[in-house]
Amino acid sequence: LQENIATLETLRKEALQCGGEKRIEVQHLKGKLTARERLELLLDEGSFEEFDMLKTGRGSAIGDERTYPGDGVVAGHGTVEGREVCVFSQDFTVIGGSLGEAHSQKICKVMDLAVRVGCPIVGLNDSGGARIQEGVDALAAYGEIFYRNVKASGVVPQISCIMGPCAGGAVYSPSMTDFVFMVQNSSYMFVTGPNVVKTVIHQDITSEDLGGAGVHGAKSGVAHFTQPNDILCLREVRRLMNYLPSNNKQKAPLVDFSDPPERTDPALDYLVPPNPGQTYDMNVLIYSILDGAEFMEVHPDFAKNIICGFGRLGGQVVGLVANQPAVLAGVLDSDASTKAARFVRFCDAFNIPLISLVDVPGFMPGPEQEHGGIIRHGAKLLYAFIEATVPRISVIVRKSYGGAYLVMNSKHIHCDVNYAWPSAEIAVMGPKGASEVIYRREIQAADDPGAVLSEKMADYRRRFANPFLAARRGYIDDVIFPRDTRHQLIRTLQFLEGKTVEKPDRKHGNIPL
Ligand code: COA
Repeated sequence: LQENIATLETLRKEALQCGGEKRIEVQHLKGKLTARERLELLLDEGSFEEFDMLKTGRGSAIGDERTYPGDGVVAGHGTVEGREVCVFSQDFTVIGGSLGEAHSQKICKVMDLAVRVGCPIVGLNDSGGARIQEGVDALAAYGEIFYRNVKASGVVPQISCIMGPCAGGAVYSPSMTDFVFMVQNSSYMFVTGPNVVKTVIHQDITSEDLGGAGVHGAKSGVAHFTQPNDILCLREVRRLMNYLPSNNKQKAPLVDFSDPPERTDPALDYLVPPNPGQTYDMNVLIYSILDGAEFMEVHPDFAKNIICGFGRLGGQVVGLVANQPAVLAGVLDSDASTKAARFVRFCDAFNIPLISLVDVPGFMPGPEQEHGGIIRHGAKLLYAFIEATVPRISVIVRKSYGGAYLVMNSKHIHCDVNYAWPSAEIAVMGPKGASEVIYRREIQAADDPGAVLSEKMADYRRRFANPFLAARRGYIDDVIFPRDTRHQLIRTLQFLEGKTVEKPDRKHGNIPL
């Protein structure tokens, strides 16, 4: 026994040394923490329990018999704010964190356990990709992870942090998880790197410009969050996890901010400017109504014309989807639609009630959007809201026109409760467009077409650009005072607590992709 205890001590020591002091130093020089340092920051102090610390590979197909400590990944479970989470952290100091058979088996083991116990999975990615020496075994190893990503989707939350290279097939595991974090200047994601780009399309581009955090956070939308360094990234993962339930059978934890539900904000009565062409910042409303003015925005730099994120109302987590009139007048375009659709589907899968704050002039016109498939992308958001069975509340703040009105969680697609502010304008289109169509002949025939158009617009505005016609029809459940929005939402969430929906018997729907 004593001999085995000594062996165990040696093996553990070896594993804890990762790729050795020199490689750890290189890792630090790149501004990156090691796999184990990252787990220490992610998890509650002392909570990490490691699995497969002693696991190594079988040697490779090309006759390389070397084995590597932990096979380049540290895996196990721990807690975040006391709640269990399964984790893996790729160790770049061990054979570049490259992924081979044993490495993958360690990841798959914790993924399987996460689904079995019903806890989230957080993967910290820092890897040179498929371990070249293992050939097809390394590819098979990726396939096993992808398979589990899909099986776990909608069952337990999956979060990925990209904290170093993530290239080729390796990108597809994180991209199928619910939330992707990237660290600025030390991480990148692409299917083919700068060398291949140069060979195939003769273009010079750096890794950062091709697939750095800036690109994926603002342009492609692949990353939901970007952070300047490992420490802040892991802190944000912990923050996000407070808004998520452990699995699809549970609700997110309640947190009491001691923020009175009946708190009113008289300033909101003045938020919407009197001139309909003038913008305002939807964030003012969001931060005003949420408990403790705490809001975690998802995709803050991508498709900024729509705001998605988590906050709490009366202690309960809600998912907010809000048009942002301060960016592109809050119009819906392809990126905004797909961004919001994915967020809505996440909330629905994990029992998070949805609240939409609407100020949308319509869909973005033009060949770029049409040829880019705005019909398909807009349909995703429409489909996602209709499909959602969690409590759905809508507040129409100002403009709500045409198809965009319907898409943004309207009564007609069965949101549960639809409120409007007195400033709401609900109609087929805005006063100018509408007057130009229905009074075209009259305007053309007039001596002063501009004056007639203005007159018609004023008349249209009086008749249609208000919430009262919709309220008379019962399409709006109530026109509320802006200052009472918070209280109104909290009361309605309490009322909708017991909502149940019968689902049709089918394999799955066919959301337009
Ligand atoms: N398979 C096997 N070993 C790998 C590897 C892989 N996919 N990626 C990196 N490594 C090894 C390197 O051989 C090196 O080993 P050594 O220290 O014993 O020499 C170690 O990991 C560190 O890699 P290194 O190239 O020195 O690090 P870097 O920071 O300069 O570059 C990469 C990082 C990812 C750009 C570079 O390693 C690379 O291009 N890797 C291959 C990427 C790839 O094409 N993967 C397959 C696609 S799925």
